[in-house]
Order: sequence, then structure tokens, then C-alpha cells
Amino acid sequence: MKKREINKIPARLDFLQSATGLILALFIVGHIIFEASILVSDEMMYRVTLMFEGYYFFGERYPGIISFLAAAIGTIFILHAGLAIRKFPASYRDYKTITEHTKRMKHEDSYLWMVQVITGFMMFFIGSVHLYIMFSQPANIGPFASSSRVVDELMGPLYFMLLISVVSHAFIGLYRLALKWGFGEGVDTKKSRARFKILMKSMIALYIIVGLASLAKYTYIGFHHDFSDGVRYQSKTIVVGEH
Ligand code: HEM
Repeated sequence: MKKREINKIPARLDFLQSATGLILALFIVGHIIFEASILVSDEMMYRVTLMFEGYYFFGERYPGIISFLAAAIGTIFILHAGLAIRKFPASYRDYKTITEHTKRMKHEDSYLWMVQVITGFMMFFIGSVHLYIMFSQPANIGPFASSSRVVDELMGPLYFMLLISVVSHAFIGLYRLALKWGFGEGVDTKKSRARFKILMKSMIALYIIVGLASLAKYTYIGFHHDFSDGVRYQSKTIVVGEH
């Protein structure tokens, strides 16, 4: 008897979407923390920047490493978004069916899926702007240079929207991944699901608070430091040029 062919492509694409989503979510978990180094001090943010420029490894700054990282993350970002488009509601009728189902059933997981679609769509645009700037101006990162970008180059409002969308998207995504692949599922699925939901909401709140605090600090520096003369951050202990 002839064996029936099973089309494995949809399953492979699904796996690839989960894998790229996991990489991006973990990247964001680290990113918001590293970038919150500004809350400790200007010097701390400067040192974190030096670390990413490879200074502690090579003894010299290589901002090209940041461009490379931005290109790598950008490629995964595009791949993930491209794979996600398959699941967007294809018509107004599809969209209506989902929203009515969500309302009628008070189904929170369908609601979370809609949040994923909306925040994902927002990030297509605002995430790309930020990634391209990081790729093209890798040497322009530091306590003063970053604050100048937030205030003088008006990136503050964009970062605000990006923060809310990326943090919600990343943690809802991790929650949905855990359910989908059965990670941490105990004997009582209902209980473990509820626990994961509490963890997801707490992480969203925590990361938004930390992100907003960092944004407030960059904005404060941006308004109080005069960049008109182009003088950038100078460390008192490490002399490797200006930032
Ligand atoms: C390798 C790639 C990336 C690098 C090097 C990078 C670096 C930075 C830096 C240095 C800042 C501080 C502000 C500034 O200097 O302009 C910042 C802010 C921010 N980045 Fe990125 N970023 C990268 C990718 C991403 C991606 C992919 C996202 C999300 C899609 C993202 C979301 C954000 C958000 C939301 C803020 C503002 C955070 C806050 O409000 O505290 N970044 N990024």
C-alpha cells in the first residue's frame, strides 16, 4: 500500500517561528537590564557600552561588534515577522470572528493573541527604525550620546511605544511558548497555566517599570546636559576616548 505523504512544512515553519521568537524574547530580557545600567550611574552605562564594544576583551573599542549584533538581531527579527504574517487575520471577516469569539467566551488567551498581533504589527515599523540606527551609528552609544538621541533626536516617544509593545509581546510570547511546548506543565495543567499567567503579568509590569525609569533618566540627562559643543561622556577612570 502506498504511504500517505505528510506535509511537514507547516510544522517546521511553526518550530522556526517559536525558535526565533525565543531568541528575540531572551535578547529583550537582557537588553532592558543592560540598558537600565544608566539607573546605577553614567559610569556604569559607559562600562556596559565598552563591554559590548569588546574593550575588555581586545583592549580597544570595536563599535563594529554592535553593528554586527544589530544586523544579526535584525535578520532574526525579519525572519520572525515574516513567519508571523501567516497567522495574521487575513480579512475583516476573520478579524470579526476572532474579536466576537473573544468577547463572547471572555477567552483571555484569544485576547492575548490579539495583543500579540497588534504589538507585532507596531514593531514592524518602530522596531526597524531603532535597529537601523543601532546598526548605522554603533559608536553613538553612551550616557550622553544615548540621552541626546532620546531628547534632541526625539527618539523618546518612539522608545516609549517600543517599550510597551516589545515587553508585552515578549512575555506574552514566552507564556504562549511554554503552553505550546508543554514547558513546566505539572500534573494539574489548569494550575500551572494560572501560575504562568501570573508570572507573565508580573514580568510585564516589572520590565515596563524598569524601562520607564531608564527612559526617564535618559530624558533627564538629555535635558540637563548641553550637547551643543559636542563634548561627550569622559570616564574618570578609563581613558579610551569620548562617549
Ligand atoms: C543589537 C541591537 C540593539 C542594540 C545595540 C540596542 C541598543 C539600545 C540602546 C543603547 C538603547 C538606549 C537608547 C539609545 O542609545 O538610543 C536602547 C533602547 C531601547 N531599545 Fe534597543 N537595541 C537593540 C535592539 C533592540 C530591539 C530589537 C528592540 C525591540 C524590538 C529594542 C528595544 C528598545 C527599547 C524599547 C528601548 C528603550 C528602553 C527604555 O525605555 O528603557 N532594542 N537600545
